[in-house]
Amino acid sequence: MSAATTVRASLEVDLEPSDAFSVLVEELAAGLARRGIRFEPGEQGRVTEGEAEVGRVVAWTPGELVALEWRPADWRPDEATRMELRFEPGDGGTRVTLEHSGWERLIEDPGELAGWFAAEVVAPLLEAAAPRRLGDWVTDRGARRPSGAQARSTYGDPVYHYPNFRVILAELALTADDVLLEVGCGGGALLRDALASGCRAAAVDHSPDMVRLARETNREAVAAGRLEVREASADRLPFADETFTCAAMTAVLGFLPDPVAALAEIRRVLHPGGRLVVLGSDPEVKGTMAAPEPFASRLRFYDDDELARLGRDAGYASVRAVRRSLEPFAREAGVPEAHLELFAGEGPRFLLARKG
Ligand SMILES: C[S@@+](CC[C@H](N)C(=O)[O-])C[C@H]1O[C@@H](n2cnc3c(N)ncnc32)[C@H](O)[C@@H]1O
Repeated sequence: MSAATTVRASLEVDLEPSDAFSVLVEELAAGLARRGIRFEPGEQGRVTEGEAEVGRVVAWTPGELVALEWRPADWRPDEATRMELRFEPGDGGTRVTLEHSGWERLIEDPGELAGWFAAEVVAPLLEAAAPRRLGDWVTDRGARRPSGAQARSTYGDPVYHYPNFRVILAELALTADDVLLEVGCGGGALLRDALASGCRAAAVDHSPDMVRLARETNREAVAAGRLEVREASADRLPFADETFTCAAMTAVLGFLPDPVAALAEIRRVLHPGGRLVVLGSDPEVKGTMAAPEPFASRLRFYDDDELARLGRDAGYASVRAVRRSLEPFAREAGVPEAHLELFAGEGPRFLLARKG
């Protein structure tokens, strides 16, 4: 084939070009990082995969254009393609266009080129637009591994979670002698309230965005050495045995693929006699505003017996599944009047456990 082959994708979006540019650059860097590719944005920016430099920025005009010289094949280091990301104003928004040209030199046979395009470009695009992958993305984005500006805003001030936080703090009754662990800390709002007791704390979350936000929310405590926030998974805590006097986990349990492993890991890092409070994942909320689709079909739910069994199977000496009313806490936590009724009734389950 003699004509230049260009792969092209575009999106019309209701954002100013400068805003579209910021979102695209941030999300592209984060999305590539999840795939093991590092994108350093900016005029001198580059893209690396392991040791190999894959792309080098050759034009960088914020709000208008990013162009990269791209080397897709490290076994053919002289072959460079050109990648452009253009931002063009139109109809009150922006047309974002990705163009990647020069493919005909890398995959010369037209049938092979068509095969690569179908299997490696179009198929992932269609998968992204099919229910399983889209539902996973929406679930991760909003709750299971939150990321992006909207999630940062939600978890920086999670008004609807404050009643749960109040119950947890009431159960833990923290003092300045406590060393608290929070697992799945989101934006760090519970930590902020917990630290008011004078305790010290550490927290983990597997979302890099949430780790950054939790550190920002509690920057003074971090600077004072009273709080450490680490990117880690609930079932592999980066702490020594018997580090903490108590632990909390809220709005996380239902997302865990192996909750017993995570609870056992928390037990490992608790002092003997250490106490644990975990917000349950109640079957009754499946499909309601508290656990709508597509989250609902990706969450695990536990009734009283199942919740208590998780604690026992994880090796805790004393285990109770209890109900705690959120109503008294909802009003004082600033839940809007119109939504107070969501917090009426006997309230959600909590697992209260103690290490032997
Ligand atoms: C629904 S958010 C709740 C955040 C916070 N606890 C709150 O109540 O506002 C769930 C959080 O748990 C984190 N998470 C989920 N599974 C996790 C895991 N296996 N290890 C560490 N963090 C996890 C997510 O990244 C997210 O920040």
